[in-house]
Parts: sequence; structure tokens; C-alpha cells
Amino acid sequence: MRVWWRCLFAVLWCCQYTPNPNNLQPYPPLGGEGRAHLVMEGTLTARDRVGVQDFVLLENYTSEAAFIENLRRRFKENLIYTYIGSVLVSVNPYKELEIYSKAHMERYRGVSFYEISPHIYAVSDNTYRALRTERKDQCILISGESGAGKTEASKKILQYYSATCPISDNMSTLRDRLLQSTPVLEAFGNAKTLRNDNSSRFGKYMDVQFDFRGAPIGGHILNYLLENTRVVHQNHGERNFHIFYQLLEGGDQDLLSKLGLERNALKYHYLVKGCCPRVSSINDKNDWRTVTKALAVIGFRDEEVEDLFNIIASVLHLGNIQFGEGQDEQTEITTETQHNYLSKLLGVDGVALKDALTHKKLTAKGEEMISPLSFEQAVAARDALAKAVYGRTFTWLVAQINKSLAFKDDVYNSSKGSSSVIGLLDIYGFEVFQHNSFEQFCINYCNEKLQQLFIELTLKSEQEDYEAEGISWEPVKYFDNKIICDLVEEKHKGFIAILDEECLRPGESNDISFLEKLEDTLGGHAHFVTHKLANGKTRKTVGREEFRLIHYAGEVNYSVSGKLDNNVVFMGLCDFSVQVLCQSDSQILRECFQREEVTDQKRPETAATQFKNSLAKLMEILMCKEPSYVRCIKPNDAKQPGRFDEALVRHQVKYLGLMENLRVRRAGFAYRRHYQAFLQRYKCLCPGTWPNWHGKLADGVATLVQHLGYKPEEYKLGKTKIFIRFPKTLFTTEDALDARRPSIALSLQTSWRGYRERSKYQRIRNAVLVIQSAWRGMKSRRRARCRRHAANVVRKFIKGFIYRHYERCPENEYFLDHQRFSFLMTLVRNMPKTVLDKSWPVPPPSLIEASEHLRRMCMQNLMRAYCRRIQPEWKKQMEQKVVASHIFKDQKESYPHSVPRLFVASRLNSEDFNLKVIQTLGNDKVKYGVPVTKYDRRGYKARPRQLLLTSSFAVLVAEAKLKQRIDYTALRSISVSSLSDGFMVLHVPSEDNKQKSDVVLQCDHVIEAVTKLACMAEKINMVNVSQESIRFAVARGKEGVIDFTSGQELKVSKGKKGHLLVVSQRMDKEEPVL
Ligand SMILES: Nc1ncnc2c1ncn2[C@@H]1O[C@H](COP(=O)(O)OP(=O)(O)OP(=O)(O)O)[C@@H](O)[C@H]1O
Ligand SMILES: [Mg+2]
Repeated sequence: MRVWWRCLFAVLWCCQYTPNPNNLQPYPPLGGEGRAHLVMEGTLTARDRVGVQDFVLLENYTSEAAFIENLRRRFKENLIYTYIGSVLVSVNPYKELEIYSKAHMERYRGVSFYEISPHIYAVSDNTYRALRTERKDQCILISGESGAGKTEASKKILQYYSATCPISDNMSTLRDRLLQSTPVLEAFGNAKTLRNDNSSRFGKYMDVQFDFRGAPIGGHILNYLLENTRVVHQNHGERNFHIFYQLLEGGDQDLLSKLGLERNALKYHYLVKGCCPRVSSINDKNDWRTVTKALAVIGFRDEEVEDLFNIIASVLHLGNIQFGEGQDEQTEITTETQHNYLSKLLGVDGVALKDALTHKKLTAKGEEMISPLSFEQAVAARDALAKAVYGRTFTWLVAQINKSLAFKDDVYNSSKGSSSVIGLLDIYGFEVFQHNSFEQFCINYCNEKLQQLFIELTLKSEQEDYEAEGISWEPVKYFDNKIICDLVEEKHKGFIAILDEECLRPGESNDISFLEKLEDTLGGHAHFVTHKLANGKTRKTVGREEFRLIHYAGEVNYSVSGKLDNNVVFMGLCDFSVQVLCQSDSQILRECFQREEVTDQKRPETAATQFKNSLAKLMEILMCKEPSYVRCIKPNDAKQPGRFDEALVRHQVKYLGLMENLRVRRAGFAYRRHYQAFLQRYKCLCPGTWPNWHGKLADGVATLVQHLGYKPEEYKLGKTKIFIRFPKTLFTTEDALDARRPSIALSLQTSWRGYRERSKYQRIRNAVLVIQSAWRGMKSRRRARCRRHAANVVRKFIKGFIYRHYERCPENEYFLDHQRFSFLMTLVRNMPKTVLDKSWPVPPPSLIEASEHLRRMCMQNLMRAYCRRIQPEWKKQMEQKVVASHIFKDQKESYPHSVPRLFVASRLNSEDFNLKVIQTLGNDKVKYGVPVTKYDRRGYKARPRQLLLTSSFAVLVAEAKLKQRIDYTALRSISVSSLSDGFMVLHVPSEDNKQKSDVVLQCDHVIEAVTKLACMAEKINMVNVSQESIRFAVARGKEGVIDFTSGQELKVSKGKKGHLLVVSQRMDKEEPVL
């Protein structure tokens, strides 16, 4: 929970000015003070980590034991990085740690020091950000003894930049070249030593140039003093430079044959001095591939690469050149094959080369003399040539790499001031061997200079800070190694001056005379001791041919033997060799060895002076940059992971001046911070400053610290910053902040949530308003449009109505169209559904004719449809109904009531028929039968009968008897009354005796019976409907009359005059009687 709060606050707090590298916001200054205060809080947020991640927070900071214990504890947990303020202390883990992934790089990108655990990436990133924000050149100085991890650190830094920096257009090649320069330089400049399997045997300072967007656009490498002697000699257990072994292991057979080499390092004298041509941790074959690929990436041309390997091979052949005594007792080369290869590979004349290796040129009184070399001198000349060829080729190589890394754009060159540089210094560490030669001297002198720079810059910035802030402070005692630097480099009196003098003075000079000269000049100096100058106890530890320098990092005995030679050899080769090499066919050698060297009469600079000058230049370069330090420590000599050799570490802590560094950091104030930042972080701890302080910042801080109860000795208020002396004070404040954080976080959360919800609500509300207004606008516009349209329509309508009786014209065309349209629409909705439906909408005058047409068509359609639907029986029914209509419509009162009643096939069922009757009728099938009442013609007696109709006659049946048969042909007519009675009279001719005269019948279904009879007899037009009476024949010449009247009910009676009187029931409309 506690950690969570810390994180939350770190994030909230740093949100205020943790910049994103991509949007170039101003960063707080990272150099000096800027870093100091950031570091402190970083430590605080991860205090629960192993040990302290910043030594400044170490309570017992004066104790070297506590210091080393902290290093050890962290080292055991694989925490190899620890800060001393802004200085990164790195302990070589001697194993691969999972802390250099892309994800780690991302984690450190744009994040301040104190937020995250110490890392080389944090230093890289802070340096980069300082470069971007302050626009001041930066440098990262990596120091430590051999094998401490300097080169690895510098590689990590380069990797970090190439992975995280933005890439300018077409600059990806540059990035690759920057990265690939390392394996090439390592192949040619690194070697296996006792301390490090990949020891850099040269000093390297690399500038990476960035453009205004922070993208790397160029690079430049300065190399310092390659350990040339390694080319010809290696201590036991060491190797020559990697490239020789790589060539022999990795080079393909063709190449080796061309170079006259064998794939066996043991065959070459220069490779076997250390007796370890193979090293388990090194894969020469793979490395060869990497190097050749890297050479291509950097842009070396094939001819250049060929030339380069010719030179490397020539050095190996040179090592195998042997000398012997010739006939005239002169030294001569005995290995002809090697010599031939050598002259071929170097591209020089064989004879001239032979002379150069066995003779020397002397100039006496302006005259040149050539004298033979002794055997030893020839061997020395050979080795000198080998060293010179290799050393100068290495310098050429660096120059070529620089050409390929140089930023060539004119824009950049014309606005150079706007670009910025990060320098990386990976230089050999302090070295102490059993036998320390000229090179060790140079290396240790270089370390003295760097220590001097470190002291000056760290102390200076610290002191300047206090002075600028008006804080009084006691300067801390520390050892200033200026005295040693002066001892080495002072004009006329310094070591180098004496060495130069001895080398260049005319007359015989040797190592002993040099030592004596040193004793004369430097004797009595606190840091210079010789066997002669030392007192009894020390004397035993200094050899007679040695002198001791008491360096800041320890005492080192240097042997004087060969020092003079080295100084001269370094200065230049013997003229003879240079003369030969400057005429070489090889482009590289011609560039490395120039004729002017021989012809120039000027006194050349010695190697020591050259080195001194190059160091002075380096110091100048570094002084004008803002430095960051990485101090590398080697945990053990055995290159073993997990082993922490306290004595070894203590020694390094001492000579790296880490304790002094820490003391200086702590002497003043452990923590400093600009008022604004301090107030910002802690203002919540004081009601007077929370939530905002509106007065002067200094007053705000004073109020705050007063409230926190700081004692006067615990802090100081400067002009712009507060200085806190003890970490404890800050821890207490931090704890108070921790305790306060939950409530602050709560109130922040509350306010934030409130703010967020309010803004959300406002956003939604605004959106709603926008939608509402848009919608309302649209609705209103639509309504207005409708109204306008409606008004137009009404206007047109009224006009059209006024003009409706006119011919079609613009004024009335809308009205007429509308009328037409609405009539048609009404018609569509109200079309007659059946043939009987006679309804039809009333058409407007203009459509009367069309309406009539339509109506007709509609009726025809309905009828056609109706007819199509009719069944045969129904058709028959209809035909009969039509006949009935024809006969009775508007004639007989009971007819309307009969219309809805269907005619049936027969009113008698089969069981109503008498079998005998049926038999009698034989083939004449009864088609219709109906019960009737027959009235006698005389007397009018009513008798029940059946009237049966066949296809050719009708017959009256009384039970089993056929009473009367009436052929249809004989049927004259049929009479019925116009009333609603059921009487009918069948008129038959009375003159025919066979016929019994007219028949008076009464039937309940008179209309049906008469219709069927008329149809069957085809006497449709013979049916008479009489109004009041029917006359009928009784017998020949005699007739009867039936009188019909209407009454309440049916009554049949015999009236006066012998008439049959029928009172027909008056038809009730609801209940028709048929
Ligand atoms: N951060 C690291 N992680 C893993 N291994 C490392 C690390 N740093 C150094 N080493 C190991 O230590 C070896 C020596 O490191 P490096 O070559 O960087 O030393 P150096 O300080 O440059 O020595 P010299 O002064 O001899 O060149 C490396 O080859 C590697 O095996
Ligand atoms: Mg190195």
C-alpha cells in the first residue's frame, strides 16, 4: 500500500515537469544541483530496496566498510548499479543480467533519476535530456580499472541512444555505423589480457552529434595511445590483438593462401608469446564474421579491406622474419619465403625492405651514412616496424571510421552551433603490473588527469552552488592530485620534460643516466621515490632500475629500462623503414607513412609529449561539456560472477575517490531543491501552504519548515533553494508526506472525480443542447415548410374552386386535378363489391362521362366474375328464377316474397311416390313433384293430389291412381291470380274427350310449380296472371269462374253464381306467403 502511494505521488508530482522526450518541454537542469535533488527522491521512493540505491543516503557515510557493505549487498542481489548523487557506480556482474532489454530502455526513457532504480540507461537518458533541454554539450566519463566494465557500459549507452533517439531521414545507416564501429575497433584495438579477455588496449573518446530534433546525425572518435608493444610481445596468459586470431580462424582458405598464412596461430611468433592463442570465452571465427560485416556496414571499400588484411598478414610475416650472420659477418634475413610474402603484402621493393631491416641510416655533419645493424638491432628494427605498421594502420582505421560517421550535410556544417554533442569516454583504467613500462606510465598519467578533472568539476559545481545561493560552508578536505599531474607534466621540471630531454639531447644517453637525471630533478618530491632516494623500508620495494610514482590510486614502480627507446620508437621509426614504406603500393601505408617525416628537419615530438598534448586536448574537450560519471568496479580478479572480493573493491573505491566523492556530496547538504519544487512537493503538510501559497516562495518554504519543526541546524535557506543537511530530516518529512498522502489522494480523487464528472456532464449537456437546437431548428424549418406548402395548396384550392367551371387553365388545374384525384381515390375506396351493389360515388362534373365508363366497366367486371363463379345447378336455378321473374315480376303479389327462396328439385321425396304410379309412368321419369289441392270443376270440392311433371307431360296422382294426364303439347296456357293465393288453372282443350278439361289446382309453391311447368312445357309465354278472376272450362261449352279478392286470411268458398270465391291473404311484407 505504502509503495502504491509512493508511486501514485511520484507520478502525480512528476507529471508537473517530467517531460516527454518527444515534445521537447523544458527539463529541470540535470547537471549539478538538478540531479542532486532528483536523486534524493528516487532513493526515497525505493527505500525498501536492498541497501540504499544512493550512497548519499547512507547514514554512516564516512565508513568505507558501510560503503562496501552496501555495494556488496546490492551486488549479491544483482543490483549492480548504485548512485553517489549523480555519479553512477557500476559493479561488473560477470554474467548476463536481464536488465538491458528494449522494455528496460522504454522504462528509463524520459523518466527522472529518482523515480526508478539506478541504471546506466538512467544516466544515458538524463544526459540526453539535459542535452535537449539545456542545449549544452554533455559527456559521460566512464572510468575504472581494466575489466571493470567500461567498454560494456559505453556499448550499453550507445545501444540505448540508437534504440530510443528519434531517427532523422536517411540516418539509420549512421546509427548502424555507430554501432558497428565498436566491433571493428575492438577487433583491432582489444586483446585478451590477464585482467580482461576483451581488454581495450587504446583509449577511446567518441562524440555523438545530435540535430535539433535530438536525432543522432554524426559521430567522431578520438583514439589514444594504442598499446603497440603488444604487437610484438605479450605477457604470459595474454594474447595479441584479436584481429590476428580472427583472421587465422575465420578467414577463408583462399584468403589465407593469398596472404601466405596457415590456419594455425602457433606458427606465428607474434601470436605465441603469451602461450594462449585460444581463449574459451572468445569465438574468433564468429567475431571474424561480425568484423567483416561491420567493415562493410561502415563503408570500407573492398580494396581497402584487402589492403587492410594484407597489412595484418604482413605483421605476422614480419614476426616470423629471422636474422642470421651472413658471409661478411653482417646481419641478414634468413627466412626468404617470409621476406617475399612480406614485400609482396606491404607492396614494397624486396631489396629495399631487406636493407631497411638490416641497416640504419645515420646523418653526421649533413652527410648520410648507411651502417649495418647488429643482430639485436635488426630484431629491434623488425619489431619497431611491426609496431609502427600496426599502430599507424589502427590510426588510419579510426580516421576511416570517422569519415564514415562524419555528418556531411552542409546545413549542419553551416549551423554547427545548433547541434549538440554527447561525448563518451572509455579509456583504459589505472594499471599496476609486476613490470610496468612506458605504456603503464602513460595510462596511469591519463587516469591522474581524469581524476583531476573529476575533482575539479564535481567540487566546482558543488562549491559554485553554495556560493551562488549565499550559503557559507567549510570546504571538505580531499586529496587533490594536481601535485602528481604537475610532477608528470610540468614544463622543464616535470617527468615528461626530463624524459624528452634525455631522449633528444646529443650524446650518449641510457636508462641509468635518465634515472639519475630524474633523481636530480625530482628528488624530494613527495610522490617520487627511487631505490636511492627511498629510506630503508621502502628501498627494498623499489628496484635499482625502477622509480616509483605515488599516484592518487596507489604506488606504481616503473622500470626505466626501455623507456627512452619507447619514447623514441613512439616518436617515429628509423628513417630507412619510413622511406621504404612511403613508397608502398598500398594506399593505406602511403597514407600512414609520409615522405615529409624523413625530409622534415624539425625536431619531432616525443611519444610522451604527443600523449601529454593529446590528453590536454581531451581535457579541454571534456571541460567544456557537462559531465556525467560512470565509475566501474571490478568485483574480483577471477572474472567470476557472484564473487565479491572486498579487498579488491576497497582498493578501487579508494583510488576512484568514491569515498571522497561521497564526503563532498554529504559535507554540504544532502538535499537541495528549488523553493518552488520543494513547496510543490511538501506544501500539503502545512495548512498555511496548502493548497496554494500566494506569497513569496521563500516565505512559503520558511512557513512550511517552521510548521514541520525543522531545527535551525538542519537546513539553510539560500537565494532560490532550500538546503537540507541530514537525510533523516528529509526522511521524516517524507514519512509525514506518506501519512498525509491517503487523505490528499482522497481529496485529489474527490476533486478529480468531481471535476471529471462535471466536465462529463457539461460535455453531455452541451451535446444535448446542440442536438436539441439542431433538432428543433430542423423541426421548425420542416413545419414552416409544411405551412408554406399548405398555404399554397389552400390558396390554389380556393382559386381553383373559383375557376372550377372554366376551361382547364393554370388557375384551376390544381383544383381540377385534386377533384379528379379525390374522386378516383374515393372510387377506389368505395368500389361496388357485388353485382347487386349499385352504389357509385358522385363524380365531379368534369368526370361524369369517365365515371359512367368506369361504372360500366366495373359492373361488367363484377358480372363476369360473378358468372364465372356460377355452378350448373345454380345456373339452372337462376334460369328458372329468370323465367319466374319474367312471368311474375310486377304481376303477382306474392312474387317478391318468392325471390329469395330457392326453387327445389322436387317437393316430393322418393318415399312420397307411390310405386305403382312410378311403374305406370315407366320410362317417363318424374322431374318435379309437388303436393297440390285439386278443386272439382263443379262443386269445387277440394281433393289432395300430387302434381308430377315429366319431360313431356304433367300428371295428377291420387294415391296409386293416375287421375289426369296433361301432355304439354295439349296444355294451352296456365292462369294464376295476381294476388298471393296459390291457385293455378291449367287450361287444356275441352273438345278433346281424352282430356278432362281445365284443371283448378291450389299449391303452396305456386310460383315454383308454375315456373317449372312452364319451362318443361315450354309455355313460358302462356302463363296468364289475371287480376280479379280466372275463367276456366268446366266442360265442352261450359265455363267456371274463380274470383279473387284480398282479405285477412285465405278463404276458399263457393260464391254466388257458382263462382269459386278465393279470398287471398293480403301479403304481409315480412312474412310472405307463397
Ligand atoms: N554490465 C555487464 N553485464 C555483464 N557482463 C559485463 C558487464 N560489464 C562487464 N561485463 C563483463 O566484463 C568483461 C570486461 O568488461 P569490459 O571489457 O567492459 O571492461 P573494461 O573496463 O573496458 O576493461 P579494459 O579497461 O580492459 O578495456 C566483459 O567482457 C563482460 O564479460
Ligand atoms: Mg574496455
